Amino acid sequence: MHNDCERIMLTAEQIRSRVKEVAQTVDALYQDKRPLAVGILKGSILFYVDFVRELTCPVELDFMAVSSYGSGTVSSGKLRIKKDLDSDVKGRDVIIIEDIIDSGFTLANLKALLLERGARSVLIVTLLNKEGRREYEIAPDFNCFDIENEFVIGYGLDYDERYRNLPYIGILKREIYEGK
Ligand code: IMP
Ligand code: MG
Repeated sequence: MHNDCERIMLTAEQIRSRVKEVAQTVDALYQDKRPLAVGILKGSILFYVDFVRELTCPVELDFMAVSSYGSGTVSSGKLRIKKDLDSDVKGRDVIIIEDIIDSGFTLANLKALLLERGARSVLIVTLLNKEGRREYEIAPDFNCFDIENEFVIGYGLDYDERYRNLPYIGILKREIYEGK
């Protein structure tokens, strides 16, 4: 385990089997559709590749980068599009793939944006859900794990751009983000 982790919350094996299960459930809904899987960079990258690898429907891949966070652990400001989609979503069935839903700010805004652009449907799939932190009225359609209000890192999730490559999800030691 990385030295900056308090403890491991979800092992690579737990993640692997749950992601596979959720992906297969979602896949069944899109067998006669041609969905656009939209990965939200950069947090969703590891989840995204493991998720789409399980799909058998004729899926297309695209990405967006948005920001609602600075380098801290508290949500702030307005949704900013840092990288937009290559695809036109008009008439498309979109599957948003996101690492974590916290306040709900990012996904509430993103879903509204894609519907405004004419998407036929928008399904939200999240790896983690911090239900207790919700401030915006939005819920994932599919979520892999409900977690408590702890700051987590790994499997795509960062603190100040670090730890994204860890194969498991760990709780970050408080002293790392509270200063020593
Ligand atoms: P929301 O807009 O408040 O729902 O925040 C969603 C974004 O906050 C996620 O895409 C993450 O980038 C970030 N975030 C929220 N909680 C955590 C965490 O525990 N670890 C790492 N990033 C987090
Ligand atoms: Mg993110």
